[in-house]
Amino acid sequence: MDQLFYIKTFGCQMNKHDSGFISQILLNKGYKQTDSIDDAHIILINTCTVRQKAEEKALTLIGRLAILKRKKPYMITGVIGCVAQEKGVDLFKRFPYLDLVLGPRNIYHIDEFLYKIDKERKQISCLDLTCEFTSFPKYNGYLNGKVKSFIKIMEGCDNFCSYCIVPFVRGREISLTAKQIIDEAKYLVSQGIKEITLIGQNVNSYNAKNEALPTFPGLLKQLDSIAGLKRLRFTTSHPKDISDELIGSFGELESLCPHIHLPVQSGSDNLLKLMNRGYTRDKYLGLIEHLRRTRPDITVTSDIIVGFPGETEKDFEDSLRLIEEIEFDNLFSFKYSDRPGTKALQLPGRIGEKEKQRRLSILQERQREITLRKNKLLEGTIQEILVEGPGKRGDDQLTGRTLGNKVVNFSSKVNLKGQLVKVNIIKGFQNSLLGEL
Ligand code: SAH
Ligand code: SF4
Ligand code: F3S
Repeated sequence: MDQLFYIKTFGCQMNKHDSGFISQILLNKGYKQTDSIDDAHIILINTCTVRQKAEEKALTLIGRLAILKRKKPYMITGVIGCVAQEKGVDLFKRFPYLDLVLGPRNIYHIDEFLYKIDKERKQISCLDLTCEFTSFPKYNGYLNGKVKSFIKIMEGCDNFCSYCIVPFVRGREISLTAKQIIDEAKYLVSQGIKEITLIGQNVNSYNAKNEALPTFPGLLKQLDSIAGLKRLRFTTSHPKDISDELIGSFGELESLCPHIHLPVQSGSDNLLKLMNRGYTRDKYLGLIEHLRRTRPDITVTSDIIVGFPGETEKDFEDSLRLIEEIEFDNLFSFKYSDRPGTKALQLPGRIGEKEKQRRLSILQERQREITLRKNKLLEGTIQEILVEGPGKRGDDQLTGRTLGNKVVNFSSKVNLKGQLVKVNIIKGFQNSLLGEL
């Protein structure tokens, strides 16, 4: 069998990380990765189903594989990730040329599945949500001069927010041990990684179900003491699980970057309740106030949904007031989308597509002003940047991020990749800052 594989990834950081994981397993087995779908002999599509649109995108691409497969019948095509878990073997009915359907918890032995398909030429699916969850396979070539990396510390979600499909497709929460995480972090640092982001659907419930094990702030403390690890970040946090101890970490741990992504979803107590979020507007505002008191330079980003069933004009205005009161550094906003199996499907008060779009546009316009204003406030300040490599513009331009996670581009004749440098911010734009060494 030819050994060229191609992976297309949709969705969140989890999925990106999972694709990296799969690449590493396959590279370790001697396969080679290609960026060209036409050259590949194995095509893997790692899918997202968080909203209807995401699912449609994945299905469209899967549909297009028919032509490739007709040309090269011996190629292997696989669907992985959240759509695979949601649709299961029905995918084989709709796309009979697929060889592999693999849920997000079943990627750890992908090489064995591919081997079997190649030998036996039959369709294989594995959708077991109770599978083991392991550390990243031995890195071998995958890091390739990178300066920052993720560690997936937990998998799954037990929160069942009423709109969300993630708990159904990612299964119950499971955490890596602190030792596994520390070992992986030490290894990454030894390979030149300067910044680590801990990822999970809800990182602050790390080990929450077992009091004998280290808590999330305890884990951060252990990671902070690793020599050579310059920056530590984590995402995503759930407001209901943020402890005073975790907030305190932002004032104490040297490597912990002052940025938090804290999805609020709505500014209305009625809706927060219907969404099953487990906190109120006041509780959320209190958390932000506490975070800013502890670490005045902290940047805060969030997610918000408009047009959730039953959202009145007043509820929507509560969301608008909330984003104006808090002034998030950045906000990811979404139109509510019905997802199979979720509680919100049964709620009355459906909002039409046009109205959802109207609300989204208003909200995004307000946020754009806030983001720009906040970026402009940084003009004239000195920021520490971790240099990640050349910027998009090429010609002597380098790019990196501030402690608060904002992108900064600046000119330099010298390649400073991997270094922490001080940059004077000369201009704040909508999506980035312009700096000067
Ligand atoms: N806690 C998760 C959230 C994943 S989903 C994490 O690890 O990041 C990312 C965001 O998508 C959510 O915060 C929510 O704002 C949005 N979202 C989830 N389900 C949605 C739905 N049915 N319709 C619209 N937006 C949704
Ligand atoms: Fe979905 Fe809520 Fe879990 Fe996030 S916390 S993944 S929004 S159910
Ligand atoms: Fe999408 Fe699955 Fe992530 S549904 S947002 S890829 S957890």
